[in-house]
Amino acid sequence: MKDLLATSIKYQQGTLLILDQHQLPHREQWLPCDSADTMIAMIKKLQIRGAPLIGIGASLLLAHLAEQGASAASLRADAERLRAARPTAVNLMICIDRMLATLTEQGPTALSHCAEQLFNEDIALCQRMADLGADLIADGANILTHCNTGSLATAGVGTAIGVIGAVKQQGKALHVWVDETRPLLQGGRLTTWEMDRLGVSHTLICDNMAALLMAQGKVDVILVGADRIAANGDFANKVGTYSLAVIAQYHQVPFYVVAPYTTVDANCPDGSAIPIEQRNPAEVQGVSGSFGKVNWAPDSTPVYNPAFDVTPAKLVSGWILDTGVYRPEQIVAGALTTL
Ligand code: MRU
Repeated sequence: MKDLLATSIKYQQGTLLILDQHQLPHREQWLPCDSADTMIAMIKKLQIRGAPLIGIGASLLLAHLAEQGASAASLRADAERLRAARPTAVNLMICIDRMLATLTEQGPTALSHCAEQLFNEDIALCQRMADLGADLIADGANILTHCNTGSLATAGVGTAIGVIGAVKQQGKALHVWVDETRPLLQGGRLTTWEMDRLGVSHTLICDNMAALLMAQGKVDVILVGADRIAANGDFANKVGTYSLAVIAQYHQVPFYVVAPYTTVDANCPDGSAIPIEQRNPAEVQGVSGSFGKVNWAPDSTPVYNPAFDVTPAKLVSGWILDTGVYRPEQIVAGALTTL
């Protein structure tokens, strides 16, 4: 495979390297990944994360294993185990399906080309969403975003954060409210790091401050990403997205979801069919990262820890995809089923 370089994943001289997002922002450590077991562990621990990027990471790993001489049977078995590493982000399944189809039709040697294509396609998809989305954002806008949807979550400039970066590139003034995103703090740890790198003016808030900001008229627009968009426009994204959408509708703040077509699951009729990942109770009982581990609740405290929630289409102002910006009436008319 050719050398490939993105913010948080790279393939260099035959080695696949992952920027360990669990340790960001305080420590930037690249870790080698040379087996399905390692990749699965990294995906589960969110060392590599974000719907598009886990699909790309799994594909690059399969291509790497094929180059090392893995048989078609063992590649198929690894692909199935990788597919199950996280259940909500459909990008992972879509990438694995494309790799498996290539394996069946052309054999293991064709996997490198397929993985490179997926990597390069993601860069192009991100750029298209960024350009389309930035045109919707007014000069001087206060944008609120949730979780991390940038170059750490994709091979390119990102989805919602890609739009933010393009707004800045267009020379418009902007300010971003960054939701910290409990329980794993993707906003507080990762989006802040990306805003710094992009030179975008931003302010970190706790998730429960968003309603107050909207009541005070300090939010003009909300941009979020998605892990799976159903055919009717309902979508799963990092837990806390749904409450933002409800609050936004009450305050009449436009609420956009930004995602590539690889996040659309046309076989999923509506949000109730999206599988939601349940995670370890320890993530809610405390917090861990490069700063160490703190537990504030008794170990025996019962916990509910869904990683994602589902926002109904009726709360969405527009879907910014690489293929265009879709309004609710287009989604109702079936736009997502004919992409
Ligand atoms: O659990 P994570 O950090 O992988 O969740 C990520 C998100 O929810 C993102 O919003 C989504 O994957 C889109 S990223 C371009």
